[in-house]
Amino acid sequence: MTIQHIAVLFGGKSTEYGVSLQSAASVIDHLDRSKYAVIMLGITREGAWYRYNGSTDEIRNDRWHYHASCIPAFLSPSRSIAGIVELTGTEYRTVSVDAVIPVLHGRNGEDGTVQGLLELSGIPFIGCDTMSSAISMDKAIASTLVRAAGIQTAASVTVWESEDWEAAAGEAMKLGFPLYVKPSRSGSSFGITKAYDLAALLQGIREAFSHDGKVIIEQNIDGFEVGCAVLGSGEEPFIAEIDEIELAGEFFDYDEKYSLRTSQIRLPARLEAGIAEQVRAAAQIIYKTLGCSGLARVDMFVTNDGRIVFNEVNTMPGFTASSRYPNMMRHSGVSYPQLMDRLIEQAIAGKERAR
Ligand SMILES: Nc1ncnc2c1ncn2[C@@H]1O[C@H](COP(=O)(O)OP(=O)(O)O)[C@@H](O)[C@H]1O
Ligand SMILES: [Mg+2]
Repeated sequence: MTIQHIAVLFGGKSTEYGVSLQSAASVIDHLDRSKYAVIMLGITREGAWYRYNGSTDEIRNDRWHYHASCIPAFLSPSRSIAGIVELTGTEYRTVSVDAVIPVLHGRNGEDGTVQGLLELSGIPFIGCDTMSSAISMDKAIASTLVRAAGIQTAASVTVWESEDWEAAAGEAMKLGFPLYVKPSRSGSSFGITKAYDLAALLQGIREAFSHDGKVIIEQNIDGFEVGCAVLGSGEEPFIAEIDEIELAGEFFDYDEKYSLRTSQIRLPARLEAGIAEQVRAAAQIIYKTLGCSGLARVDMFVTNDGRIVFNEVNTMPGFTASSRYPNMMRHSGVSYPQLMDRLIEQAIAGKERAR
């Protein structure tokens, strides 16, 4: 059997840099070394690219960039290279790559930017393409498209930094408090506020603008959040067992997501069979509407009166060994190493997207 050269991208110029380090270290640890030679490419918080050859522990504790093995390296958009370029002084060396796993969360990685580079390079890569990564990243655009596809979404108001915030706040107030204020393109709950009055709403808008120039203000959905791990492409992608976030506090903020101090993830979700079926059907429509391929985690709310309301799609969900996406897959009989095999196979089989 020939060994495939798999490049794993980690870090990235994003507020979710630290989350990516945890996800990528797990991905690297779970790649079967009898099948794959792993090429690690780290991107610092400042956006500098290095090839790294140390342990995954040094990635987890964010010391990888001090490691002696680091050499400047980057993915080339040139199809004649179809791999990475490493620089040592004034010399360069190219290394060909069979597939790329971009384990990057948030801006400059999960938002179509890196996917664009990968499409130019012609190298197969796992996950969604440029367009679907970009539209899934933008909560305002994603919910507009999903609503047009007939799935319910939270009523919302979108405002750009150059616009009149107070007018937008006035418009949003008509939806009724509490309101969620979110940077349109962010993740891990960074910059999100739940506002109960006008002062908190204005403060929330200011806070959200420090993360993104576009802000979405959403009506609160009463109910609980569920997730669908979707794998594959085409008419019938595989959807694993649904999970549920059981919240004790206000909302699933950054601290709760990564500590689970008061909340817990229930797998399987406590849903009646009929509702679970509707959740899966909605996830499939959302995945298709946003043009997803490879994988995505589709998040929805199930309201107290049994309605399904779209929340968001994560095209590169958390990928640690205890993260929701790998857990849902494991629960449905796909182990972490098998998941990696499938994702790589799919990427290589779907190479024609890099036309
Ligand atoms: N409209 C809403 N109604 C109720 N809860 C919400 C709403 N929007 C967000 N939340 C809560 O805030 C959390 C983070 O929001 P989300 O849109 O998923 O952003 P992120 O991309 O940062 O995960 C959700 O997991 C949920 O707990
Ligand atoms: Mg979320």
